[in-house]
Amino acid sequence: MRVLVLGGSWFVGRAVVADAVRRGHEVTVFNRGVSQAVVPDGVRQVTGDREVLADLRTLARRGPWDVAIDVAGSVPAVVQRGATVLADVAERCAFVSTISAYRDWPHAPVDETSTLWAGDPSADPATRRWEPDAYGPLKVGCEVACQAAFGERRLLTLRPQVVLGPYEYVGRLPWWLSRLRRGGQVLAPAPDRDVQPVDVRDLARFLVRCVEQEAVGVFNVAPRSRAATFGNMLRACLAAVAEDAEHPVELIWADEDWLVGQGVTQWTELPLWRNAAAPWSMNTDRAHETGLHCRPLAETVADTWAWLRAGGRAVAHQRFAEHGMAPDREALLIRRWLAAHPHPAEGPVPPAI
Ligand SMILES: NC(=O)c1ccc[n+]([C@@H]2O[C@H](COP(=O)([O-])OP(=O)(O)OC[C@H]3O[C@@H](n4cnc5c(N)ncnc54)[C@H](OP(=O)(O)O)[C@@H]3O)[C@@H](O)[C@H]2O)c1
Repeated sequence: MRVLVLGGSWFVGRAVVADAVRRGHEVTVFNRGVSQAVVPDGVRQVTGDREVLADLRTLARRGPWDVAIDVAGSVPAVVQRGATVLADVAERCAFVSTISAYRDWPHAPVDETSTLWAGDPSADPATRRWEPDAYGPLKVGCEVACQAAFGERRLLTLRPQVVLGPYEYVGRLPWWLSRLRRGGQVLAPAPDRDVQPVDVRDLARFLVRCVEQEAVGVFNVAPRSRAATFGNMLRACLAAVAEDAEHPVELIWADEDWLVGQGVTQWTELPLWRNAAAPWSMNTDRAHETGLHCRPLAETVADTWAWLRAGGRAVAHQRFAEHGMAPDREALLIRRWLAAHPHPAEGPVPPAI
């Protein structure tokens, strides 16, 4: 197939390009070429800025394509311009949206029919900075823009859960891996809380598979809920970093409401932890019935550490700095927790498990 990927060089797009190439498709990527990612052999790169209409028109002249995959669109007006230009030269469109599109997430379970935020397809916020509160409505605006340009019968929309794996630039799993490698007493939340992140390679495989099958419509993308817990994830991290650990680790599992009471910022200060009713309750039956296969979380963790250990570095991104807890603050919270709860639920955990 002739596949156009808008973006394609940071994380999700990079994995999509790798999968499409592996499957023998003829791939064109369109990006500014500023992130210095290596373009895989055989991939055609068109350099340009998707915010510039003239660049989009130049791109369109390099078509046609069977599908245009918009991996990272987040500004509706920009997505709208691109989709309008490309609708004449691409048979179909695939848009990567997010679980944040659902209005009730993370407070209630969601499936593909759950209510979305209101989205304005022409919204064009002055800042391109990452604003968590605006993210969901903006992504819905992008979805609406793609629908308007391509129509529902030519549009595939994926709404992934949190995405982890090699090249993750948000820094969630890399933070936990680095923290556990450093060792000592580690503040940890809620061992029994479910987690449901999707491996970037599984997301990419599913996307390319859908494209090959000419699937359209909306699919949530994540492992089935209840497949893994926060405790499983941290233990997988411990196992992954065991050989490189600086000190033995003692996980200090603190009560979630207590952490909230201490002002710990959910989702970022202890990455991936959120004390809401349903952050990890996404129904993904539709995707699984259409061929989504998700590897075990431990494999994602191990591969991410192997990538970091080999010197892997993600693209620099403003969101990276938002994640993680400063060591002195963590030590203070652990002292407070242990003073109030002298018998921790779990004893020392050796690094090699
Ligand atoms: N991370 C998560 O947990 C998570 C969860 C759910 C959904 N998602 C969704 O997953 C997607 C993640 O995408 P990604 O960032 O990994 O995609 P990506 O396609 O790998 O990277 C972004 C691409 O956009 C290009 N780019 C940036 N600004 C551009 C511009 N003005 N003009 C042209 N190209 C431009 C970048 O290259 P240059 O810099 O060289 O231009 C890069 O190739 C997003 O849609 C996000 O909403 C993520």
